[in-house]
Amino acid sequence: MMISNMAVIGAGTMGIGIAEVAAAHQCRVKLYDIDTSAVTAAIEGLSLRLDKRIAKGKIKDADKQAVLTNITAVDKLTELHDCDLVIEAVVEKLSVKQDIFKQLEDICTEDTLLASNTSSISITAIAACLQHPERMLGLHFFNPAPIMKLVEVIAGLKTNQAVLDQAVELVTGWGKVAAHAQSTPGFIVNRVARPFYGEALKIKQEQLADVHHIDAALKDAAGFRMGPFTLMDLIGIDVNYQVSQTVYQAMFNDPRYRPSLLQSEMVAAGLLGRKSGQGFYNYNQPDDDDSLCYESSQKQTPSQIQLSESNHPFEQLLSTLQSVCSIKTGSLNQVGDTILFQTVGHRAETLAQQLDKPVCLVDWSFDYKQSKAVNICFSAQVSELDKNHIIALFQHIEKQVLVTDDSPGMINARVISMLINEAADAVFNGVASKQDIDLAMQYGTNYPQGLIEYASHIGWQNPASVLTELYDWFGDDRYRLSPYIRRRL
Ligand code: NAI
Repeated sequence: MMISNMAVIGAGTMGIGIAEVAAAHQCRVKLYDIDTSAVTAAIEGLSLRLDKRIAKGKIKDADKQAVLTNITAVDKLTELHDCDLVIEAVVEKLSVKQDIFKQLEDICTEDTLLASNTSSISITAIAACLQHPERMLGLHFFNPAPIMKLVEVIAGLKTNQAVLDQAVELVTGWGKVAAHAQSTPGFIVNRVARPFYGEALKIKQEQLADVHHIDAALKDAAGFRMGPFTLMDLIGIDVNYQVSQTVYQAMFNDPRYRPSLLQSEMVAAGLLGRKSGQGFYNYNQPDDDDSLCYESSQKQTPSQIQLSESNHPFEQLLSTLQSVCSIKTGSLNQVGDTILFQTVGHRAETLAQQLDKPVCLVDWSFDYKQSKAVNICFSAQVSELDKNHIIALFQHIEKQVLVTDDSPGMINARVISMLINEAADAVFNGVASKQDIDLAMQYGTNYPQGLIEYASHIGWQNPASVLTELYDWFGDDRYRLSPYIRRRL
């Protein structure tokens, strides 16, 4: 069945965005909201946004007219009787959603697909109120719906496969990327992304680094589009905290999803991020200087260093140092007395004691060559001269340098290993396929690379080693290794 007549219920942020996407792809959309003024306001807002796009030359006036002509405001649910698909995007409350779907079952035909845009409620639970739960599914769009490519297509326990197939065909026809997921807490993105916030918050709480430093490490050194604290301020710390709590409770208090005390305190204080003027950063004082966390410029580079012969991406970065000083080949990377490793989770101090040599650890990056920065840490015995030489070497190859305190997994290796573990465990538990999880994280959160693909590329033993070190150090079950990773060692 070709879907050309549909409805969106709820004309808020998500509802109008979804209606726009569908209307721009020749679907006729009926827009309903319990508050009729919300529909009028949403259509007016859309008209203004489309005007801005016309002014920027991105669309033509005819495109705007086509979108607006395809959207019809309706003020009664009964007017949805001829729709092939209804997408609900109202408040995040099970009873409200169930009430709507129960009414729709009486209004619409048997063939009408019923979808919810819920971000955290079980599709199985919503569908439980229906006589025909097999036609109910989740279509989880991301904000802003017209821009974000991902749609998670969620199957409840009783959803019919043909219903899912039809929905995938529809949303891919709208230019979206569909990722299949089972109805489980947080689906893919809101589950797998939890450690990006949770582990960063824990690192801050442990006073290992401040928010500037953690954001700079994950953005400029690792390669994420945005640091976790900047992102939490943008999303709203209250919204992010709510998702964390929902997933934690739905997972029966699994410590992997434990929300942060830091976040609950921020919410209690009304420090909600950009929308309240202050969150982890202060938006009323534009002099917050991100560059403060970087090391000041060091001039003196060593005349010679030793590098091991290897094709590992980290060693490829070090090989570019040949433009700065002479290189001799050896079994280890060495600057002065100090041995350089890419971290695999051990503290620099532990390695220094094992080797009886000073150690400098370099944190992970999705792309060492493209990154703007490196995050490093030193064992206690590294001399000032070696420290300055190492910092100068990286600065000479155009990398800003962050120096972190010595702790297992540093910042990036710790956060990325936790993300990989979460992605792996989602595959292990049948939430989605590894391909769909990688797609979802790239298109739903703009991660530089799929997590499973990245782990396969660098070798599963690396995140496994980081997680094992974290587990030993903290004695916290949140760092337990997914059996999916164990099977790959
Ligand atoms: P919103 O608060 O902007 O809009 C909700 C709209 O639903 C309001 O206009 C309200 O009047 C209407 N409404 C409330 N009860 C209704 C009822 N019984 N019948 C008809 N209309 C009713 O909310 P938003 O942000 O658009 O979220 C909607 C849904 O989408 C929620 O389930 C949310 O979890 C989900 N979602 C939200 C995302 C976001 O970033 N805001 C992202 C992805 C999903």
